Amino acid sequence: MPPTTPSRPPRRSRWSRVGGLLALGSLIPGCAAAQVAHPAHHRAARSPAPLLAREGLVDTLLSQMTLAEKVGQMTQADQEFLKDPADIERYALGSLLSGGNSDPKEGNGLAAWTDLYDRYQQHTANMRLKIPLLYGIDAVHGHNNVLGAVIFPHNVGLGATRDSALVRTIAAITAQEVRATGIHWTFTPCVCVPQDVRWGRSYEGFSEDPELVARLGAATIRGFQGRSLRDPLSILATAKHYLADGGTAIGTGIRGGLDQGDAQIDEQTLRRVHLRPYAAAVAAGVGSIMVSYNSWNGVKMSANRHLLTDVLKQELGFQGFLVSDYRGVNQIDPDYKTAIEKSINAGMDMVMVPDTYREFIGHLTDLVNEGRVPMSRIDDAVRRILRVKVAMGLVGAERLPLADRTLHRSFGSAEHRAVARQAVRESLVLLKNRARTLPLSKTVARLHVAGKSADNLGNQTGGWTISWQGAGGDVTPGGTTVLAAIKRAVSPHTTVTFSADGSGAAGADMAIAVIGEPPYAEMLGDNSDLALDSADIATVRNLKAAGVPVAVVLLSGRPLILGEVLDQADALVAAWLPGTEGDGVADVLFGAYRPTGKLPYTWPRATAQVSIHRGDRGYDPLFPFGFGLTY
Ligand code: GLC
Repeated sequence: MPPTTPSRPPRRSRWSRVGGLLALGSLIPGCAAAQVAHPAHHRAARSPAPLLAREGLVDTLLSQMTLAEKVGQMTQADQEFLKDPADIERYALGSLLSGGNSDPKEGNGLAAWTDLYDRYQQHTANMRLKIPLLYGIDAVHGHNNVLGAVIFPHNVGLGATRDSALVRTIAAITAQEVRATGIHWTFTPCVCVPQDVRWGRSYEGFSEDPELVARLGAATIRGFQGRSLRDPLSILATAKHYLADGGTAIGTGIRGGLDQGDAQIDEQTLRRVHLRPYAAAVAAGVGSIMVSYNSWNGVKMSANRHLLTDVLKQELGFQGFLVSDYRGVNQIDPDYKTAIEKSINAGMDMVMVPDTYREFIGHLTDLVNEGRVPMSRIDDAVRRILRVKVAMGLVGAERLPLADRTLHRSFGSAEHRAVARQAVRESLVLLKNRARTLPLSKTVARLHVAGKSADNLGNQTGGWTISWQGAGGDVTPGGTTVLAAIKRAVSPHTTVTFSADGSGAAGADMAIAVIGEPPYAEMLGDNSDLALDSADIATVRNLKAAGVPVAVVLLSGRPLILGEVLDQADALVAAWLPGTEGDGVADVLFGAYRPTGKLPYTWPRATAQVSIHRGDRGYDPLFPFGFGLTY
């Protein structure tokens, strides 16, 4: 059974963590920012070069390496736990990461992140073989750890767009903003296929539908990795979390939730629902795959040789490398050395340790010397890691791969934000529109805006934004709240008033309630009760009591149980977690863009329905998968 508490140190210490740039003008009449170029360097017409490109160089390097250097390549430490930066060359570390709250001491500014990456990469010049570090981070909806980055809609909203070209462009822009800090590896796309939206990571999934996840996951990988992984604007993608992270049963996860739980399903369901997106990811040339915390029928994924080696590496022909999740190997066995033995022999190639890297290296070295892990397994793991580093041009380059700071000029640019705004427009799903309440008029005398999330950028961006869990309020500069966007959209003669609780609406021509979920991530988002919170219900009641028409905008990571709010609303729009570009919400509310979004998840009437899927008997949701109205 998974641990009753996360196997990590307390959250604070543990996390102490373009292309077809669209010619948007054709979509938005009169939308000035819409015209964006199609920068040549953004676009890839083909999938990335095969990872086998220069196997001879890999062979040569492998033949020169000592056991210590090979084990070092398989070790990923979190920069916040480096006991001494010189441990990079002392242990010939292959990789560093920044987990959810593992930030530069100087703060989360662009320069601080760029300096941090360069400082660590410079240590590899002191290594015997000078093999550069792979530096990984969770850029899951833009370069979301860095202040001022464009924050795109989370994957749930991208799933509602159904737009592969847009998703690929978003990944290309994200890659460019990640590269601006020197970093060249993102732990995304999450190609989970959530089957129960009580799971806190549902918003990291594109959809409950494996084909849609496969399509958008592959598009994301091509956007990140571009025509070739050697492209200076490409970054290494990671399909995660292998396998069936979205298929666990409630009660089997952390603290009785779903996260990191047990997927109690047969192999046919496992393959049909959860493996499908990985076949697409491998075909798209993904260079890394992250192994999941969860179990399948009681066996930890990180120790499942059949799925890691037989299925993924042999049957699907995955040529890149497998990386564990954060201390994921630790969960396999109470004895760390035994846990390492089981995971490496199952097919794990790189271990996200992230703190006990000295012990990890000692144990793995001993395991090889004791014959408990064969050198052939070590060589296969290191070959895969070097293959990706060679394909990325990290190995064999004349100079250290330091950051290209000219990219700072386009970081968080209006051009990038225009694409994010288009993504917001396309992600909104219109669920109700009584008597054509929407689109709203821009010239009425007074609009009253209400709700806890109307003027709250952090509630728009959700988890994995600047910090691991995200936070309410002004989390990052350069964003636009829904309230600010509405104020910008209406005519100069229109008064816009605001109250968080819906008071003061009487006499207005129209009310807009912006409600939903506060930010969360991972197991802290597991929720057995998906009802709207009482503050939101009270806000809508107050607006109805004022006798004005009410449009509800729901900012949430998943479908929620709407209850009386659906009856009271004259119009209702699911806006998911749209990110920094709130103007995209106003574009739809005022009709500058007609809603085209379609539900990526079934919308249940009641929480009890969440585990009844399409095709199951009794499938009778409030709104079915694929539902969405327009004007
Ligand atoms: C986390 C998440 C994974 C993330 C990793 C590194 O625990 O499960 O999605 O990529 O750690 O932050």
